[in-house]
Amino acid sequence: MKEETALCAAIEGYFRNEAPAGVRKAVEAAGKDHALSEGYPYDAALKGKPYREANEALQIEIVKMQAWARRAGARVAILFEGRDAAGKGGAIRRFSRNLNPRGARIVALPKPSDAEAGQWYFQRYAAHLPGPGEIAFFDRSWYNRGVVEHVFGFCGPAERERFFRQVPGFEAMLVEDGIILVKLWLTIGRAEQMRRFLDRARDPLRRWKLSPIDVASLEKWDAYSAAIGETLARSHTALAPWTVLRADDKRRARIEAMRVALNRIDYEGRDLKAVGAPDPALSGPPDRMPL
Ligand code: ADP
Ligand code: AMP
Ligand code: MLT
Repeated sequence: MKEETALCAAIEGYFRNEAPAGVRKAVEAAGKDHALSEGYPYDAALKGKPYREANEALQIEIVKMQAWARRAGARVAILFEGRDAAGKGGAIRRFSRNLNPRGARIVALPKPSDAEAGQWYFQRYAAHLPGPGEIAFFDRSWYNRGVVEHVFGFCGPAERERFFRQVPGFEAMLVEDGIILVKLWLTIGRAEQMRRFLDRARDPLRRWKLSPIDVASLEKWDAYSAAIGETLARSHTALAPWTVLRADDKRRARIEAMRVALNRIDYEGRDLKAVGAPDPALSGPPDRMPL
């Protein structure tokens, strides 16, 4: 409890005293609305009936997709990555809410134990890959090594290089073995991240989401940007491509995430009209999207 209070105070203090003036202004101007980053393609938030209708159509398709996966023994792994507060957990919750829990798993691993730290880096993640008929949602993944572990020095340069050398081969093995691998990177602007941290600090029900890493990351925006750029550039492969999604508007991002994933999974009975086409202004390959 005491630690939580200190984290909230640190967030408020950073916002008042250290945040770049542009960020502070954008947060204040946004109020309760999302602070949309530069070049965000829509002015108004997606809400009300258009959101509900898009969501309902997608929920039905997701349930069909799982039924097919269980029948066909398909293995589906969907990675959700992005900065702190990008909306990974919320997107996964909406994606998985109507699924049969037998066959749908959320994988959100804690920091590695000492024993795990001595293993092959991918080993503990490999243990959570989907088996036949399963869908695994990764809330963070092996990509921790590319970004947060690098920014905070939890891994050294040699370990990171080894990660980058191994990751294309690791993912190629999964895909060649028949696992459907969808890699989603949620991207938000600096002001929207700040706004979400403040929301968390001010809402007792959401305070638990704040971590010391979140507070420390406030001063490391540019280090994150560099690490993210390098990571995406070095792991965007033909067999396992990234899709980057603009996530300042979290509802739009959730709809887009479901759309992108369902477009990549060729399940029986797929209704592409109900799924809807991905929006090129909201999602695309790393070289086309802001990070
Ligand atoms: P989250 O944003 O997932 O709620 P945090 O912001 O606290 O969690 O941490 C971000 C990521 O960094 C998590 O995946 C966590 O496991 C990882 N992490 C934190 N500390 C370490 C560490 N000492 N070594 C490696 N990874 C760590
Ligand atoms: P400034 O001090 O205005 O130059 O802004 C410093 C940082 O804040 C830069 O990294 C900007 O990209 C970021 N920033 C400024 N305005 C916004 C905004 N409206 N949304 C997101 N980030 C912003
Ligand atoms: C998110 O909101 O992106 C994550 O699920 C939680 C976090 O960033 O701390």
